[in-house]
Amino acid sequence: MLISPVRVLVLGNGGREHALFLKISQSPLVKEIFIAPGNGGNRESEKIQLDVMDFASVLQVVQNRQIDLLVAGSEAPLAAGIKDYFKEKMPLLMVFGPDKNSAQLEASKIFSQKFMERVGIPTAKSRVAQNLNEAIYIIENHPLPMVIKADGLAAGKGVSIHYEKGEAIERCEEIFTDKIFGNAGNNILFQEFLNGQEASLFAMCNGKEAIYLPTACDYKRVYDGGKGPNTGGMGSFSPGNILTSKHIKIAQEKIVQKVIDEFHYTGILYVGLMIDRDDISVVEFNCRLGDPETQCVMPMMETDLVPYLLWSCGKNEAPLKIKEDGFFKAPAKPGYCLNVVLSAKGYPSSDYVRNLPLQFPEKMPENVHIVHAGTKMENGQIVSSGGRIANIVGFDKEPSIARKKVYDFIDSLKKTNDFSKLHYRLDIGEQV
Ligand code: AMP
Ligand code: GLY
Repeated sequence: MLISPVRVLVLGNGGREHALFLKISQSPLVKEIFIAPGNGGNRESEKIQLDVMDFASVLQVVQNRQIDLLVAGSEAPLAAGIKDYFKEKMPLLMVFGPDKNSAQLEASKIFSQKFMERVGIPTAKSRVAQNLNEAIYIIENHPLPMVIKADGLAAGKGVSIHYEKGEAIERCEEIFTDKIFGNAGNNILFQEFLNGQEASLFAMCNGKEAIYLPTACDYKRVYDGGKGPNTGGMGSFSPGNILTSKHIKIAQEKIVQKVIDEFHYTGILYVGLMIDRDDISVVEFNCRLGDPETQCVMPMMETDLVPYLLWSCGKNEAPLKIKEDGFFKAPAKPGYCLNVVLSAKGYPSSDYVRNLPLQFPEKMPENVHIVHAGTKMENGQIVSSGGRIANIVGFDKEPSIARKKVYDFIDSLKKTNDFSKLHYRLDIGEQV
């Protein structure tokens, strides 16, 4: 099938969305591309000022700019039903991602848990509490350590692990009584603690089958050695070193195909897995790509991303896929990609350093690039506008060289930037 070039609108302003924008921009199938609202890494002509949760405004932009393909980067618009909204208002528009019902796999941990239990997807044993009394009863009868999850979307902060019962009760008081997560904490899911190593799997789905994108690992804690509080992610590398083809085959059969069959799932199914030798269990589902994993997954794709996006929306025949034992994958480049996140000092607490002037060079070293996250342009100067500021991404055939390129470039930035106000981890990719 001959595909005519498309106009694309990417929704979001983080590193993931900038990485998607950069990858999609390279496609010969793209006539024009915009990002709303975008960040300091985008030219003014590419950006559209927009609240991505205000679907009526998105509709206006889609109509005015004659957009063919809408790509939502984060879970919020998907969970709020952007796909369903446009299905009704503009049935011909391609919206990449799942519908509202399927997005509940991420937006409600209890919905996801009940589904997994019903169809026999391997995951942790669980209990649900609807109020503090029920929570205390569960805690008293639950083995330690225990995992406490606010049911709804909580900006990555809704999960905590407890080794002591008093502390678990305090956490439930914060959720039920102090409402630290608002309505997202109306119910709590308790899970048994799963041992093993975590890995992220990205399945591109078209309602019938899945094609796996390159694997990746991320670093959740703020400090080296996995210390300090959880963050959105401080770095990543691809391919991930934990998932083998054998694991993906099991995941395809026991997890991903079951989701596709139940929900006619389209878009990205991000499966957070706990791997314990050959045993795999689902830790979480997400309905979008990972941030900061995307910043490495996109450069590792050998081919154009757009045919996969169109295929996922049902508008194209199957893009390039390599058959492995029991699953299909998208061709990946031979080599290795590493991403180190530069964050503002103080992140992930909310009182991190703000409005930091930044100087990035025009000319970049070979195979190194910057993916912007919390940056904005102010009077011709790039300044920070978020906790995670920029991603320094390097590629090479040799992991150690990719890593050296990234860290050498960061060192070179110290001449023109105030690193007493910036933070980054020194151990990204160290073990690979
Ligand atoms: P989630 O948002 O559900 O992925 O949880 C955030 C993080 O908490 C995960 O990436 C894991 O590191 C950890 N986690 C969640 N559930 C469990 C579990 N049942 N056992 C062990 N660790 C978990
Ligand atoms: N890197 C984890 C996430 O995107 O949820």
